[in-house]
Amino acid sequence: MSGVTIRPMRDADGPTVLALYQAGLDGGDASFEPAAPSWGVFDAGRLAAHRLVAVGPDDAVLGWVAVTAVSSRPVYAGVVEHSLYVDPAARGRGVGRTLLEALIRSTEAAGIWTIQSGVFPENEASLALHRACGFRTVGVRERVGRHAARDNRWRDVVFLERRSPVVG
Ligand SMILES: CC(C)(COP(=O)(O)OP(=O)(O)OC[C@H]1O[C@@H](n2cnc3c(N)ncnc32)[C@H](O)[C@@H]1OP(=O)(O)O)[C@@H](O)C(=O)NCCC(=O)NCCS
Repeated sequence: MSGVTIRPMRDADGPTVLALYQAGLDGGDASFEPAAPSWGVFDAGRLAAHRLVAVGPDDAVLGWVAVTAVSSRPVYAGVVEHSLYVDPAARGRGVGRTLLEALIRSTEAAGIWTIQSGVFPENEASLALHRACGFRTVGVRERVGRHAARDNRWRDVVFLERRSPVVG
């Protein structure tokens, strides 16, 4: 999309990345997590090679994507789980799609074969975006957790994965 560039996330992006993370959580349909972590926790948990930000012409961060390893077992070395957050003011303009496509390129180039994610069924934008990028629904986890920020109610999670057609 015009005017938006993808580049690696830098430590200096941390405050904005965490602010966008919190804005997404505050929307109530992104994650069970109530609050964004500290930068130290974020940094320790996400693979350094696949942290990307989308920036505007002024280098302002519009969104980010990052992955965590799902297991320390060698057999799952090529399986990651991702998080994707776009500034509420920049949504619906293709930023999320640009980030997710960049993540797919980045992970495939590194030999990662599966990206997975859990999405609330109410998160129509996320479901539409992931399906458009080749993710399939593995299944729906029913009433899998209670959402503290949503009156502690039990919520389903749609479990999605994208198995790379080019890796392996
Ligand atoms: C989900 C999210 C990342 C999407 O980012 P975005 O930049 O708004 O998405 P895009 O503009 O790239 O849209 C991608 C596709 O999703 C579709 N889409 C976007 N918003 C939609 C909506 N509200 N309802 C239905 N479809 C929608 C678009 O039609 C688009 O498809 P297209 O490329 O064929 O036109 C963004 O809404 C967000 O940050 N939400 C809060 C955090 C979150 O929920 N993250 C995901 C956790 S699993």
